[in-house]
Amino acid sequence: MEVIIQPSAEAVAKIAARMLARQLLENPASVLGLATGSTPLLLYRELIAMRLDWSRVTTFNLDEYVGLPRTHAQSYHSFMWKNLFRHINIARENIHIPDGMAEDIPKCCADYERRIRDAGGIDLQVLGIGTDGHIGFNEPTSSLASRTRIKTLAERTRRDNARFFGSEDAVPRHVITMGIGTIMEARLNLLLAFGENKARAIAEAVEGPVSSAHPASMLQMHPVVKVCLDEAAASRLQRIDYYRWVYANKPAWQAI
Ligand code: GLP
Repeated sequence: MEVIIQPSAEAVAKIAARMLARQLLENPASVLGLATGSTPLLLYRELIAMRLDWSRVTTFNLDEYVGLPRTHAQSYHSFMWKNLFRHINIARENIHIPDGMAEDIPKCCADYERRIRDAGGIDLQVLGIGTDGHIGFNEPTSSLASRTRIKTLAERTRRDNARFFGSEDAVPRHVITMGIGTIMEARLNLLLAFGENKARAIAEAVEGPVSSAHPASMLQMHPVVKVCLDEAAASRLQRIDYYRWVYANKPAWQAI
């Protein structure tokens, strides 16, 4: 894991945007895994401003709420169109988001996995983290080998996401999410986190034991993970000085 600590969320977003831009430059037909929530918003804003060529890019989103029509303001379909897709030149047919209204959810999940495989796998996956350590919507005790499937949200996640829905009661109980096994197959994982309320989850993910009790900790088993944090999200890390020193001493050819 490479831990990159920046003075602000804006600075983190700029670095993350440079990584994505480089990926698209090296391979204009890249397959990207995308995330929702408040965390990637600044990154998406940066990417839009960069006016990159998305015409050959394929995307797969991590997750979607079950039971929300695409047109619902809080569906991840709506989120992605509002905050990224309608501002870039991506081809509609290259966009993939799990269908939360699917009648046959197991089939929809199996199809999603197949589509990722058929696209050649995910080159770069963007991740946020839940305050309970979830990635995608893989709540604590999710199988570390899990694939795309239906999950029931933890109470804490529903409470965290109530801010988007007006009340906790309005937050759906079920979601479709890529599994941890799916995320582990991405060639590069880029985990972003901002703010003090993510500090504990980040410390557990980066320095805690690998455990399904903290799903993001499984990323320790992945060969290429970049964890990009603002100061507040990094504040509970034990080895913070080491991470800063490593970043300051990167060989020139490794510069971001
Ligand atoms: C959400 C999403 C995750 C996201 C996390 C944190 O509910 N399913 O993909 O990373 O929880 O959300 P936020 O970025 O709003 O803090």
